[in-house]
Order: sequence, then C-alpha cells, then structure tokens
Amino acid sequence: MSETNAQASTRLDQRPEWHALAKHREELADVHLRDLFDRDPDRGSRYTLQVGDLHLDYSKQLVTDETLRLLRELAAATGVFPLRDAMFRGERINVTENRAVLHTALRAPQSATIDLDGQNVVPGVHAVLYKMTQFADRIRSGEWTGYTGRRIRNIVNIGIGGSDLGPAMAYEVLRTHTDRDLTVRFVSNVDGADLYEAVRDLDAAETLFIIASKTFTTIETITNATSARQWLLGELGAGDEAVAKHFVALSTNAEKVSDFGIDPQNMFEFWDWVGGRYSFDSAIGLSLMLAIGPNAFREMLAGFHLVDEHFRTAPPEQNVPLLLGLLGVWYGGFHDAQSHAVLPYSHYLSKFTAYLQQLDMESNGKSVDRDGNPVSWQTGPVVWGTPGTNGQHAYYQLLHQGTKLIPADFIGFARPVEELGALAGHHDLLMANFFAQTQALAFGKTPDEVRAEGVPEELVPHKTFRGNHPTTTILATELTPSVLGQLIALYEHKVFVQGAIWNIDSFDQWGVELGKVLAKRVEPALTEGADVPGLDPSTKALVARYRELRGR
Ligand code: F6P
Repeated sequence: MSETNAQASTRLDQRPEWHALAKHREELADVHLRDLFDRDPDRGSRYTLQVGDLHLDYSKQLVTDETLRLLRELAAATGVFPLRDAMFRGERINVTENRAVLHTALRAPQSATIDLDGQNVVPGVHAVLYKMTQFADRIRSGEWTGYTGRRIRNIVNIGIGGSDLGPAMAYEVLRTHTDRDLTVRFVSNVDGADLYEAVRDLDAAETLFIIASKTFTTIETITNATSARQWLLGELGAGDEAVAKHFVALSTNAEKVSDFGIDPQNMFEFWDWVGGRYSFDSAIGLSLMLAIGPNAFREMLAGFHLVDEHFRTAPPEQNVPLLLGLLGVWYGGFHDAQSHAVLPYSHYLSKFTAYLQQLDMESNGKSVDRDGNPVSWQTGPVVWGTPGTNGQHAYYQLLHQGTKLIPADFIGFARPVEELGALAGHHDLLMANFFAQTQALAFGKTPDEVRAEGVPEELVPHKTFRGNHPTTTILATELTPSVLGQLIALYEHKVFVQGAIWNIDSFDQWGVELGKVLAKRVEPALTEGADVPGLDPSTKALVARYRELRGR
C-alpha cells in the first residue's frame, strides 16, 4: 500500500486528530473574537502570512494557536503532503478517471521537467504557448485577416464551465490591460439569447470565433458553435471555405474538431491531465491572451507558478493554501458552516466568485470518498459572493445579524488600477468599507455599547451585533496579471487541501452527468411529442404543458 493510500484508509471522523479538534471546539464554545484579541494584543500582526504579493490576515478567524496546531496535525495525518507531492509529480491522483492532475505543469518554466508515463510534458506546454503567442501577435497586429481581408476586431469565445468561466472572469479582471480596440465576448448558455446578443451588432467579416471545449462534445458548445458558423456564413454569403479564417478551436480532441470543420492547424491543444475547471491557463486562455497580449499572459502564469512553488515547499506554519483549506475544514466540520462567502472589493473581480464556484463546488461537491464509501462529514461548502460594496446593501444584513455562521474572504487592493487615478476619493471610500466590514463582523456591538448611544431599551436587541463572524482579509498592492494568477492558484490549492483531508476525488465531476443524459432523453418529448420512457409523472405533465404553451 502506498504512503498516500495508507494515510487515507482510516475514516476521517475516526481519527484521533478529528476527535481532538471536536473536543477543542467544545472548549472554545464561549470564546469570542473579542476575548482572543484581548488575550493577545499582537494577534493582528502575528496572525498574518505573505505569499508573493498577497498579504493575508487571519487574525479574525475563530482559531487559537492550539486550533491551528490541531488542524495541521489533521493535515499531516490525512496525507495532504504526500498527495500534494504526488500531484506535482504527475501521479494519477484522479482515481475515478485514472488521470494525472497536472495543471501546475501549465505554468512551469520551460526548464522544468515533469514526467508523465516517461515523457516530459513541459516542452509540449511551451510549444502550445508559443503557438498561442504567434497567433495572438498576428491577430493583434492585424496581420491575420478574415475571409474578406478585413482585420479581426471582434473575438467571441464559445465554451461553457471551465472552457468559459476562467477567460470570461479574467477578461473582466484585467480589463485595463486589454486592447480596448478589440471587442471580446463570451457565449456559454445554450439559450439562443446568449449567442444572439453576443453577435447581433458585430460585423461578421471582422469576427473570430474561438470554440473552447476540452472534449468537443459538450452539447451547449457544439450547438452554439454550429449556430455561430451558420450566422457567419450567412452574413458573409460564403461557403465553408470561410470557416478557416474565422474559427479556431481549443481542445484535446483533434478528431472532433476536424469533424466540426475546423482545420486541426487552427487547433490549440491541451491534454487530459488538465481538468476543465483547472484549464484556464492552458490553451483555454487564448481569448484572454488575445485581449491582454502574450506578455501579460505570461506574467499571469508566473503568478500562478509562484504560489505553486509556495504550496509545494513552504512549511505548514507558513503555507497559505494549507491554512485556507484547514480553516474551511474547521468551519464545515466543527461549526456546521454550510457556505463560504468570497467578497472582492474590486469591481474588476465581479466574476471571480462565479469562477470559484465551479472550481470549489465541482471539485469538492462529493459525498463518497476515494474508495466509494459514503462520507459522514461535510465536504465542499456553497461558495457565493459579489463585489463590495454592492453586497453591503443586499445580503450583508444576514452576515451581521442572521443566525448562520458564514466564513468570508475579503479581497482588496491598496491602489486602484492606474486608469482610475482621476476618480479621486473612490478607492479610499471603497477600502474604508472593506476594513469596516471585517471589523464589524468580528467585534460587533455589545448591548452596553448600544445603550451608551442612548438607544431606547426596546431597540437595544435590534441594534446589537453579536460579532464573532470569521473573516480572512487578503490584501495586495494592485490587481495585476501576476496577482490574478496568484489568487487563482491560492484557491486551487485550498480546494486541493480540503479534498485531500475529506478523502474525496476533487478532480472528477460525475455529478453533472445525469442531468446531461436526461436532457438528451427528454428533448424528443419536447420537439416531437415522443413518448419518452422513464419520464416521471411530474416531468411528463410539465412537458405536456410546455408543448401546449409552445403551440405544438
Ligand atoms: O460541467 C461539466 C464539465 O465537464 C466541466 O468540468 C467542464 O469545464 C465543462 O463541462 C465543459 O466541458 P468541455 O470543455 O469539454 O466542453
């Protein structure tokens, strides 16, 4: 039995380290963050870590030195570190799909060697990066022209899930680094409205479609790509010969790409050891590279790599992804927290939490362990959140005074991005809110403090804030491509740590299959009124009503 298997074989909730944490949790039951800060005046500076450009303050977490020690012991006992090393080495740690998990190779430097089945994967990664760079340069310089000879000014990425969320999110994050003369849009939903709205005001002669699909079989993407081709050829009044100038593919499946009619020369390859939700720094990032340029894209990869190296080598006490993973295990396992909020105080990070939802929930939304046994502990949380300060005027009420414990990450930046320099005052106001919120969540307001303000007694309970809501603050100087890479790698490895401790396969996603299979089965019932076997009575009645309303 390998070291990793041996360590995973004891059930999590039967481990002495788990029991020790449960007992410790009881001891901490009545301890408030106010007490923890009173006891340790240095807590605000002692409970901080740095990785790359990211300063992390976890002093407002419901933990003590003892909690952290016990959590690290749990990590050691559950084999987080050997599994981490196995991942970096390219072992097949995605057990249910028998695949290696090597997204870290996508940002490894050219000089690195990462062997998979006796072959170094790094040269292949850099060959694709080089091909992407050449293509990006040709598009951005106007050298690559469309079928009618016009320069490409519009990029439409068609993909879904991991083939959409990453580049769509990063395009927003790095807007100020983009070529503002290029229009870049992302189409994912099979709802025709998505494609319609994306192309309705575009000139087909100046439009490039990037069809992003690891498998090139995903029904939403193939449907959208087929309609996009029809639209393009119709607008240009051209035949299939126009496709080569207006369609490229990002995929692992050359055969399907070619069946679709895209020249394999125009395919940017990646590999089955890159999970969809971990793929955005592979060829899947082509739309982003076209927007921000190859140099900024490489800066972003360097940011990823910096955090990979930190995760791989930093001692447990200083290991930031480890800490974030352990905190989630602490709240899910011992505080019954069901969700985790990620609250970026940057408008540019508006899609960041949506991206993390796939990363975290598709990875760790599992209820059987790696051997297929049901787990009896909480696994991945519901991840949610929107940029501050908007959330403050929506759902923060529940964070402050609701009945639920919702740990939250606050992400903010010391400087606004350069282009906003002229809008003086906004940024300090934004960040004043950022700091005020974590303070209010942690320390609240006691009834005595409320009374001291002259509040009538009957309103005191309403104006009291219990506090004790845990938050992590992540602060960086500026939102750069490298910082974006650092942030994403941080969360990737946090998710890894949690999956390792919960002993689940964080790299498969069987849960999305059933819905896909049923949708295929139900479709003829909608279109042809076919009597589809196996439809439950509720769905059957709904389909009948749908057909009636649709006029069929
Ligand atoms: O949602 C399931 C999933 O397989 C994701 O993991 C993946 O990112 C997405 O579908 C898209 O898949 P593909 O890139 O193969 O089209």
